[in-house]
Parts: sequence; structure tokens; C-alpha cells
Amino acid sequence: MATVTFDKATRIYPGGDKPAVDGLEIEVGDGEFLVLVGPSGCGKSTSLRMLAGLEDVNSGAIRIGDRDVTHLPPKDRDIAMVFQNYALYPHMTVADNMGFALKIAGVNKAEIRKRVEEAAKILDLTEYLARKPKALSGGQRQRVAMGRAIVREPQVFLMDEPLSNLDAKLRVQTRTQIASLQRRLGVTTVYVTHDQVEAMTMGDRVAVLKDGLLQQVDSPRNMYDKPANLFVAGFIGSPAMNLVEVPITDGGVKFGNSVVSVARDAVQAAADKGDRTVTVGVRPEHFDIVTGESGTLSKDAPAGLAVTVNVVEELGADGYVYGSAEVSGEHKDLVIRVGGRQIPEKGSVLHVVPKAGETHVFATSTGERLSD
Ligand SMILES: Nc1ncnc2c1ncn2[C@@H]1O[C@H](COP(=O)(O)OP(=O)(O)OP(=O)(O)O)[C@@H](O)[C@H]1O
Ligand SMILES: [Mg+2]
Repeated sequence: MATVTFDKATRIYPGGDKPAVDGLEIEVGDGEFLVLVGPSGCGKSTSLRMLAGLEDVNSGAIRIGDRDVTHLPPKDRDIAMVFQNYALYPHMTVADNMGFALKIAGVNKAEIRKRVEEAAKILDLTEYLARKPKALSGGQRQRVAMGRAIVREPQVFLMDEPLSNLDAKLRVQTRTQIASLQRRLGVTTVYVTHDQVEAMTMGDRVAVLKDGLLQQVDSPRNMYDKPANLFVAGFIGSPAMNLVEVPITDGGVKFGNSVVSVARDAVQAAADKGDRTVTVGVRPEHFDIVTGESGTLSKDAPAGLAVTVNVVEELGADGYVYGSAEVSGEHKDLVIRVGGRQIPEKGSVLHVVPKAGETHVFATSTGERLSD
């Protein structure tokens, strides 16, 4: 087993004007499951391919344990990779597919047999070892691809969207299997996906990339509770966090007819930058629906922000209200989670205020998190 270090690793493709991956710095712990996530083109595969040795590193370094592997060929890195297109050899049996890399490496037959059988047992493939890939389901083929990586007993597993060929239901099952398998084997793993739900459910830690730049590396819980900037705030969580630009007033920020108190330091930090607004983030589950008149600024207007209900998504246990509100003279779409027994009518108006302590404050100008 081993740690993996990206030490300011940078990749500029020939002819490219800016790096596809720019000064990436991540330290993956021994046995850790680290997920790289971000939108298409953000540099996930490039990062993984640099670690695999399939892509040159233009500056910075990559280490596995205390070995500097920056300029080592892939075969000398002691890694095994599972790709999105895990193309099995159609004319070979499952057992031969799984053992192929070992055969090429000159491992003796008895040893190959032993390792393939062990892996098959772990992956529940024992009864399929003599079959050809075409006689397997999509999920079983995916497990054979995993088996190919496992039998090599590498120091590090690299996986690039290994579940994207599977249908939605199988993907959910398989992601649980991969995560628990990784925990059992304890092999350091770097896993790439564009799916933030996959990232949050599988990773010990999650690294979010955008435009080749690392935005945040954190546990799923911290990533959700304390996104480091507006990008992460909007990317992690489904439905996404509501982000509203609001004027700074004394003692807080104005939210419809209420003043919501937010961290004083945060507001001060924004004012110090010369910003006149901050961007407040509220997750859909962190609104209170107000019915009374308490806490209003003016006597006539009800408290909070008036939201007109456009669409309601009923999910049984709860529901999501997709509505619109006027914030600082601008039309704004909002998503609010409501209880399954309190679903409002389409066209009705809700008055909402963020729950105390559940607001996130970001600098409108730079996007950085201001609240702690
Ligand atoms: N061989 C290449 N030559 C030139 N540019 C490339 C090459 N491969 C990737 N790029 C560019 O580098 C950037 C990062 O690509 P990369 O494949 O790492 O993205 P990704 O995050 O894996 O995206 P996806 O989710 O779509 O797989 C993109 O802008 C892409 O166009
Ligand atoms: Mg990719």
C-alpha cells in the first residue's frame, strides 16, 4: 500500500494555451478512497492519466509512497487502472481476461490461477470463470474489469468513470460494491467521476476541479456543510444550493422583508473588499416557512421572502417547491424542500426565511467563502 502525492502537477497539452491541469496539489492517504469530481473538461482524466504515466507532467511531480514516479513508464508504477470502456477480450474466458496482465508479466500459471480464483470469489464471479464476456450482464462485465485490476495486487487503483456504461439502477448497486470492496482490500484508490452524488457517496474525501484548478479537497460532510466557494456550493448537492445576491445592511443581510443575521465577520470582510452585496447560499432543506407576522420590517408585509410556487415535485416523504421570488428588484428562481404532508398549491405564495445558522456567505466579487 502507499500514499499518492500530486505535487503542483501541471499538464499543458501541445498547442494548448492554458494548462488542462494547473498546479494540482493533493495528498492521498494510504488506503484512502479519493474521488476527483467536476464538470466535463475540468481535467479529471488528465490528472488520473498523469498519475498512470499515460500523460506527460510538464511541471511539478507525482509520487507513490516516497517513490518519485513523475518520469517512470506506466508499467513500473505498480498501479492498475479501470477505464470507462473496460473492453474485455471477447474471445477469452472470464478467467483468461482476468489473468491476462499477469500472463504478459510472466507470472506462473499456478499463481495466476490462485489470484484469479481469489478475485473471482471476492467479486462473486466464481461460477462465470469459464464463460465468455458476451454471456455476462453489464454489471458482471464491470466486475470482471475490476477483477483484472485486483489480480495485479497493485499499490494504487485508478478508476476513470468505471460505472458510466451501466444503467442507473445498476450504477447505484455497483458503486456500493466498489466502495465496500475498496475498504476491504484497503488499496489506495483515485476514482474519477462527473457525478457529484457518486463522489459524495463513495469517497473518503472528494476533490473538486474546475478549469484545471483544484477548488476544494474535503470529506463529503465538510464539502456539503462548508463549500469553499460559490462554484463548489452550486456543484455539490442536489437540488443545488440556492444562491442569492443580497445587499448588506446593518447587522445582517436583507432577505425580502426580513433581515437575516449572518456572521458579522463575513459581512465586514465583504465590506472591506468594497463589495456592496454578498451572495447568500441556502440549501433547499434549510428554509423555514413563515406564517405569522413576526420579525417583519414593515407592519403590512409578512416576514421573509415571498416565493410564488411554480412547480411542485412530490417525492412522498418530502417534496421540492420550484418557485420564483423578487430579490433586490430581480427575478430569482428558488428551490425549497417541504414536508410530504405540507405540499403547497401551484400558484400559491410561500414566505420563507433561512434557518438560523444555516446560511452560507460568499463574496460576490471573488466567490470565496466568507462565513466560517
Ligand atoms: N490529448 C489532448 N490534447 C489536447 N487537449 C486535450 C487532450 N485531452 C484532453 N484535452 C483537453 O484538456 C482538458 C481536460 O480534459 P480531460 O479529459 O482531463 O477532462 P475531464 O474532466 O476528464 O472531462 P470529462 O468529464 O468530459 O471526461 C479539456 O479542455 C480537453 O479538451
Ligand atoms: Mg474524463
